[in-house]
Amino acid sequence: MVRQHVNPLSSFHQLPRTLPAPPDLFAAAARPLHLDIGSARGRFLLALARTDPQRNHLGVEIRRPLVEAAEADRQAEALPNLRFLFCNATINLQEWLVALPSGLLDLVTIQFPDPWFKLKHRKRQVLQPPLLAAITTALAPGRQLFLQSDVLGAIEPMVALVEASGCFERPEADTRPWRADNPLGMPTERESYVLSQGLPVYRVLYERNGAPPPPRSVLEDSGEAADNPGVDPAGADAAGDGAHHR
Ligand SMILES: C[S@@+](CC[C@H](N)C(=O)[O-])C[C@H]1O[C@@H](n2cnc3c(N)ncnc32)[C@H](O)[C@@H]1O
Repeated sequence: MVRQHVNPLSSFHQLPRTLPAPPDLFAAAARPLHLDIGSARGRFLLALARTDPQRNHLGVEIRRPLVEAAEADRQAEALPNLRFLFCNATINLQEWLVALPSGLLDLVTIQFPDPWFKLKHRKRQVLQPPLLAAITTALAPGRQLFLQSDVLGAIEPMVALVEASGCFERPEADTRPWRADNPLGMPTERESYVLSQGLPVYRVLYERNGAPPPPRSVLEDSGEAADNPGVDPAGADAAGDGAHHR
């Protein structure tokens, strides 16, 4: 049985892990790379790799049994433009993104990340300032970052962080505050479930502009401000049980 959630702050999930070189991952390693953070069981990327063969797709996921099951499916289909890797995105991706050949990263997706609402758990949220800084550095101007969630309390801090960076713009034609549809044309598993329930999905597509990545302190200050604005931290912590809720 696969655990529903893991604690990304546990010591096991702080271990360094090495990103294999792109030629060890993909048959045509020079193709533009799509990185999906929190790929879960992988069915979204398995489907997308079939319909978008011009890009390589890399799914990273902290629950190892899901990575193994997704990789088994990929191997059974012999998809040459898809890989799933086990890692803790908040710890391992910074080095992995630096290790990528310059200009390779084309698209980053963070879709329906686990929502952690308690202030004391905010460090478990996947998009932390150092990870956004690494994504910002690795994405060339014009390349894209796509975020979506069914939980406003999960996507709003991500949006605040991305916009504080000053490094991303939204396409003019996109509806505000949320984009109406998924630009990839392929729903994730969580997205399909949420839509089947008739519930809203909040989406934002960003394009990297030409601004240099900001000092880390700018992103960290933004993260502090975005967490439960207007709520007294001591009061918020005392009020709940530490679990995350939708
Ligand atoms: C709610 S699921 C959504 C899965 C998929 N993106 C979808 O939309 O159907 C969030 C996924 O992110 C993974 N995850 C959470 N924190 C992570 C981290 N630090 N590194 C890698 N994956 C993480 C979880 O294990 C989970 O599989």
